[in-house]
Amino acid sequence: ENAVTVLVAIDGPAGSGKSSVSRAAADRLGFGILDTGAAYRALAWAALRTGTDLDDSQAITDLLAAWAYEITLRGEQRVTVRLPDPEAGRLSETVDVTAEIRDPGISAQVSRVSKHPAVRVSLNAMFRRIVAESGLPGVVIEGRDITTVVAPDAPVRILMTASPEVRAQRRAGELPGASREDVLADILARDAKDALVVDFVNPAPGVSLVDTSDFDFEQSVQAVIDIVRGAQGAA
Ligand code: DC
Repeated sequence: ENAVTVLVAIDGPAGSGKSSVSRAAADRLGFGILDTGAAYRALAWAALRTGTDLDDSQAITDLLAAWAYEITLRGEQRVTVRLPDPEAGRLSETVDVTAEIRDPGISAQVSRVSKHPAVRVSLNAMFRRIVAESGLPGVVIEGRDITTVVAPDAPVRILMTASPEVRAQRRAGELPGASREDVLADILARDAKDALVVDFVNPAPGVSLVDTSDFDFEQSVQAVIDIVRGAQGAA
């Protein structure tokens, strides 16, 4: 069977609402959702767990060639890995890292693995394989470089943004006790790291800009669905 999976590529900065909006839009479209940031996080987790130097491109690429990674594309997201065990000469039991990869300790370390071009090339190949083997009618794939590098030929490509102030306000609402200034500083620091792989201000040619600064959640989801439906109508 050669059923083609429709791809919806969505990029955006931390706090743009991209993750939750992409998930809701995928659900309503009957599509799967591939969160690519989860793989970067799981790789950082695996490197820390195996004592692999996160700054060593070759060592991280070797780890990536040896591990087994799985993520669910429908329903509740589950992320699992099996680690290489050189002494046993086989992979470890399956470890569910869904919760652990969201730890601030992991967030602080991820850019040390995502900065390596060779690591990005390998992960991008893995993302394309996951989509190709999904067997789903469509997959929303979200990250930082999906519209430009991972799936530049996707029929729908969206850059979802919001002003740093709005993103800080939303994030502060999720983190009781955090000051808006601290949250804004954190977001600007993350933007600076992300800027190494993505331009959040100028969408690439053919990419639709969705600025959610003045949108609530529902309006943001609807904006994505409208773009997908528009593209399907045009096809
Ligand atoms: O979206 P997130 O916060 O879960 O992403 C985790 C990290 O991975 C973040 O530092 C950005 C990076 N990332 C990336 O470089 N490329 C992607 N396609 C997705 C995430």
